[in-house]
Amino acid sequence: MNPKFLAAQKALDYVIDGTILGLGTGSTTEIFIKLLAERINYFKNLIFTSTSLRTTNFANSLGLTITPFNEIENIDLTIDGADEVDKNLNGIKGGGGALLFEKIIAKNSGKCIWIVDSTKLVDKLGAFPLPVEVVPFAYSSLLRKFELMKLNPKLRLKDDKPFVTDSNNFIIDCKIGIIENPLELELKLKLITGVVEVGLFNNIADKVIVGYQDKVDVLERN
Ligand code: 5RP
Repeated sequence: MNPKFLAAQKALDYVIDGTILGLGTGSTTEIFIKLLAERINYFKNLIFTSTSLRTTNFANSLGLTITPFNEIENIDLTIDGADEVDKNLNGIKGGGGALLFEKIIAKNSGKCIWIVDSTKLVDKLGAFPLPVEVVPFAYSSLLRKFELMKLNPKLRLKDDKPFVTDSNNFIIDCKIGIIENPLELELKLKLITGVVEVGLFNNIADKVIVGYQDKVDVLERN
């Protein structure tokens, strides 16, 4: 079986009809959204909000209506993917460029569950380049600053032009190597003027559902 499918399928167990559900971004979340759409006669009274234009378009194409985040008070549960997850259930996200809205939705959710395949599990974060969303006005100076900080920064490109996020920002991917203290790094980067958000998601996931070829594990935050 496809490990991403198994993780997405298991996440359905945590969905309660009549609640408000945050939908993450990425291929694993899209499998989950498809499974939800197939069960919409069962989940009749769910309200959905979305972490990206990509997810909104995908959900709409399957007949699901997305309520804008600004029209929602409290999200009950958010299901999202991740690029890397460590033993403390801290993670790197933003591979799909949706880190800012993903973090806003996650921080406004009662519970947050990530669905990943087992290749995303690591001892320590940092092999996956850390996405940092920055204000376009300052991207050159931030590239120089990150270079001095030895973060191995690279401006994310799409079709030879800077990749533009849903909030019209740019992303600098930092190939840092092992991150010994993700909390410290998140705070350090967020204090830099021009940095909008950092793809370190510390103390956010309550559970991580890990898909393997033939089983799923559910990891819980201690
Ligand atoms: C998007 C993300 C995604 O959740 C992350 O990239 C995982 O994606 P996938 O499920 O396709 O592996 O953070 O910004």
